[in-house]
Amino acid sequence: MKKTNAVITAVGAYVPDYILDNQELSTMVDTTDEWIMTRVGIKERHIQKGEGLGASDMGAEAIKELFEKTGVKPEEIDLVICTTVTPDHPFPATANIIADKCGIKNGHGFDLNGACSGFLYGLDTATRFIESGAKKKIILVSAEKMSSIVDYTDRTTCVLFGDAATAVLIEPTEEEIGVCDSILRSDGFGRVHLHMKGGGSVYPASHETVDNKMHYIYQEGQPVFKNAVSKMADVSVEIMERNNMNHEDIAWLVPHQANLRIIGATAERMNLAKEKVMINIERYGNTTSATIPLCLWEWEKQLKKGDNIVIASFGAGFTWGSIYMKWGYDGDKYAKK
Ligand code: UT7
Repeated sequence: MKKTNAVITAVGAYVPDYILDNQELSTMVDTTDEWIMTRVGIKERHIQKGEGLGASDMGAEAIKELFEKTGVKPEEIDLVICTTVTPDHPFPATANIIADKCGIKNGHGFDLNGACSGFLYGLDTATRFIESGAKKKIILVSAEKMSSIVDYTDRTTCVLFGDAATAVLIEPTEEEIGVCDSILRSDGFGRVHLHMKGGGSVYPASHETVDNKMHYIYQEGQPVFKNAVSKMADVSVEIMERNNMNHEDIAWLVPHQANLRIIGATAERMNLAKEKVMINIERYGNTTSATIPLCLWEWEKQLKKGDNIVIASFGAGFTWGSIYMKWGYDGDKYAKK
């Protein structure tokens, strides 16, 4: 019997209309376009505006685009995995809220918090469901309303993050395409350097937690940067080596978009030319688990069936990892429709 592989068969996305650029940020905090571009590489980020809207509203829009382009019906979906660090509510899972908003009723759903590595963790999890035969059509939705946990008076973090949602469809195939290998890691030693202090069971919301600004992202940039540079590059090189690939075999590196300098260091260690690296951090900033699928969505038309793609991430936890996949379809097939 042939092995069942898990393959991404379409990508959808949603980015809110409102653009917060460096110029506007420089009127809010003591920063400059020059500092942000040199140290991070971000020009603008999209922000979800509107009372009562959350990550689920963006996630639902991304799935609607996916349905429109593929013709897949909500009733065909048997699992929704939502990766997010900004769920609509502590419970129930945002996956269930998104599924309800999209009319998905014939399966189950759950949230997965891998922070910036959420897409990799989610893709690996979906792959196991597909390879085992348990599920046939999975949507991995990555929905991040980072603006809801950013302190717009803190120049060290408010310039970094943006809002977005993406949705990928994952299906079984007997062809030799799809997810080939994954290396996933986490180590809680890093939690002190990047986290949100309040709002969980240790410090539930109170006047004190609000007064002490404990419901915002807390990041010590330098230790996160140092670990990101070494660990993201290490796993990317490891996955190349154990699959006997060199830089010529790789069509694309799709790195998490946290800092242009981290991306550059990873590409350099892999000996990859700049042209093979997907980079859109300039226009979206760091959208946490949505950065990698947002790249796949933007580059979709250029992707060819069988392309060797390495995706890599590093984020809060610490969490990090790398996945090697053979792309499943010629991306221009949706352009022709
Ligand atoms: O996706 C999740 C994982 N996160 C990451 O991968 C982020 C990793 N870290 C980074 O990307 C970088 O550390 C940052 C972009 C966050 C910061 O860049 P940096 O080169 O490490 O700067 P720094 O923290 O060492 O700060 C250098 C200086 C400081 O001033 P002093 O103390 O030298 O006077 C900061 O206060 O830059 C100052 N600074 C700023 N200046 C203007 C910090 N933020 C800003 C700002 N505008 N927005």
